[in-house]
Amino acid sequence: MTRAFITGVTGQDGYYLSKLLLEKGYEVFGLVRGQNNPKIEFLQTELPEVKILTGDLMDTSSLIRALNASEPDEFYNLGAISFVAYSWENASLTTDVTAKGVLNALEATRIYAGDDISKVKFYQASSSEMFGKVQQVPQTESTLLWPRSPYGVAKVFGHYMTINYRESYGMHASSGVLFNHESPMRGPEFVTRKISLAVARIALGIQDTLSLGNLDAQRDWGFAGDYVDAMWRMLQQPEGGDYVISTGQTHSVRDYLEVAFEHVGIADWKKHVFQDPAFLRPAEVDLLVGDATKARSTLGWAPKVEFADLVRMMVDADLQRQRALLG
Ligand code: NAP
Ligand code: GDD
Repeated sequence: MTRAFITGVTGQDGYYLSKLLLEKGYEVFGLVRGQNNPKIEFLQTELPEVKILTGDLMDTSSLIRALNASEPDEFYNLGAISFVAYSWENASLTTDVTAKGVLNALEATRIYAGDDISKVKFYQASSSEMFGKVQQVPQTESTLLWPRSPYGVAKVFGHYMTINYRESYGMHASSGVLFNHESPMRGPEFVTRKISLAVARIALGIQDTLSLGNLDAQRDWGFAGDYVDAMWRMLQQPEGGDYVISTGQTHSVRDYLEVAFEHVGIADWKKHVFQDPAFLRPAEVDLLVGDATKARSTLGWAPKVEFADLVRMMVDADLQRQRALLG
């Protein structure tokens, strides 16, 4: 039985990746932080086969202990402070977790592997946020990085540190430069889920308005279920590498609103949506669109879910949850 160890197992991607690996017959171990993390209950209900270990990316010894306990063949480092807006107000904490945490994870892996560095393969969750003020359209593995947020800067550190461990120690370490990917499991702080939740509530008459920031920002949005498959494929390659994972299509926040409201039969959505400067960012990433040619040719990976279907999937899931709450 192949064994996988996942940090960030309580997050969106942790859920889809655990599900995928369990379906493939893996034994899955997940790191959960905090002494009474409320997300443990959800994990134990939805994915009871996942074996929970406690630890924190800021505590290297806890990572070494977790690796010794799980003895993984594959290590997926998904844990991070991942909300870009939050990272300006918590830049130091974001650096400790999202940047230094990657070094801790790599170093724990090196110590755990001892003389046999080939015994575990490592995946780092890098991000299209690293492209920031984009220097090329579409963005590829070789596009110059120009991060625009403390989160983006932290991810650049983790990205280069992963490459450095590959080059210095011969570690099978891969960095997936994933563009935005969403699902019904997305946290409600992110714009897609914030909208799908609000649209469901507006359609059911529970809520009337929705406050947002920049409606013109453009993102290359894909489905999280498709993207975790790319992570797995990277670790099945003979050597580690860096891969852009994206759909190649970009849409604005406005486009997302259009499809979401249309799906619930509301044509005049503008009367429900207000712009609030509180949701504007000190520096914006205006346009992200990725070129996943390398992933297509090397990994045989391609996204399956299209933008409009993704929006409808998210709105439908929130309608169902809100109806269940109404009883
Ligand atoms: P998410 O839902 O925000 O999950 C983040 C996970 O990190 C949670 O399980 C969280 O645990 C854990 N975490 C936070 N601080 C930690 C710490 N100090 N020690 C250990 N774990 C900690 O994020 P996601 O959307 O699944 O994304 C997964 C990874 O991919 C992240 O690294 C993210 O930055 C990166 N990424 C995401 C996207 C995207 O569009 N989703 C795109 C590119 C890259 P709690 O549940 O306890 O908070
Ligand atoms: N969250 C949020 N809330 N974003 C808003 C809002 C709002 O009310 N209004 C407009 N936006 C805009 C943001 O300014 C941004 O340009 C865009 O919507 C997307 O914001 P998020 O959904 O918060 O995602 P993100 O692109 O900043 O970051 C996500 O994707 C990265 C990959 O590019 C996160 O998942 C990161 O962890 C990930 O690395």
